[in-house]
Amino acid sequence: MAVKIKVSFLGAGNMGSALVKGAIKSGFLKPSDITIYDLDFKRLENFKDVPLKIASSLEEALKESDYIFICVKPQQMKELLLNIKDKVNDKQCLISIAAGVRIKSVEKYFLNSIPVIRVMPNTPALVGCGMAAVTGGRFANKKQVKFSIDFFSSVGKAVVLSEKHFDAVTAISGSGPAYFFYLAEMLEEAALKLGLPANSVELFSKQTMIGSAKMFLGDSLAKDLRKKVTSPGGTTEAAIKYLEKRKWSEIFLEAARKAKERSRILSLAN
Ligand SMILES: NC(=O)c1ccc[n+]([C@@H]2O[C@H](COP(=O)([O-])OP(=O)(O)OC[C@H]3O[C@@H](n4cnc5c(N)ncnc54)[C@H](OP(=O)(O)O)[C@@H]3O)[C@@H](O)[C@H]2O)c1
Repeated sequence: MAVKIKVSFLGAGNMGSALVKGAIKSGFLKPSDITIYDLDFKRLENFKDVPLKIASSLEEALKESDYIFICVKPQQMKELLLNIKDKVNDKQCLISIAAGVRIKSVEKYFLNSIPVIRVMPNTPALVGCGMAAVTGGRFANKKQVKFSIDFFSSVGKAVVLSEKHFDAVTAISGSGPAYFFYLAEMLEEAALKLGLPANSVELFSKQTMIGSAKMFLGDSLAKDLRKKVTSPGGTTEAAIKYLEKRKWSEIFLEAARKAKERSRILSLAN
């Protein structure tokens, strides 16, 4: 159901564009309620066939917006916040998707009580299948948090989580797609080494991954699905037993810990 709310997007790069397109495609937002702005006007050309408003200045982008999505790189946040700090009022809500930028680091730029919501989305939002964690700052109300959840649910799934979990979320769902792609790369490498024709390895890995992901839709647990394809004494069991012997789950846990720690360190710098 479309909502009658004015929304603006500052930054129309990979993520900003995907969010705008996804929210329109799902019917959550109407193009006429959206304004976008980007320093790089070439980015805005992608939207020339969509009847949304393209702002030619920050002032124009912020005017009358109930929600302002901040979709610039973390290192571009400071400059952006300095530019908007006197142009935003406390009836407007900022929704930042900048990785590793804490709510208090955004709030500190404003003299008044500006509602700030922080979201950690992930790249599958680009195909309407994202996973996002949402957390509201001290000035954000329930309606604004709900709007954020509903918005990110229109491009995937979204849950409310305390900000203290955001480094872990970054390590799990933020970096997560890369782990699966890494696994697909390893599957392709193994396929080649096991002698499969080079022109077929990508198809084998891609289709196996997509098929497995589709089986994972619904209520089945990963563990149960794995057990179903692991017959006692069979081929899969031989592979899994070897991975267990080499303590693959411990290696993976340590890798996820490294990502979490890196996220923590990066967020201290922002
Ligand atoms: N991509 C992901 O998977 C992902 C996942 C989670 C969170 N995020 C977060 O999403 C944010 C955006 O990432 P992205 O990959 O979409 O970046 P991006 O493709 O570089 O897009 C950012 C856009 O914002 C523009 N911009 C910079 N400063 C601006 C300003 N003051 N006013 C208006 N526009 C401005 C940039 O222009 P220029 O190119 O001219 O600088 C660029 O077009 C990042 O903070 C990232 O941490 C991304």
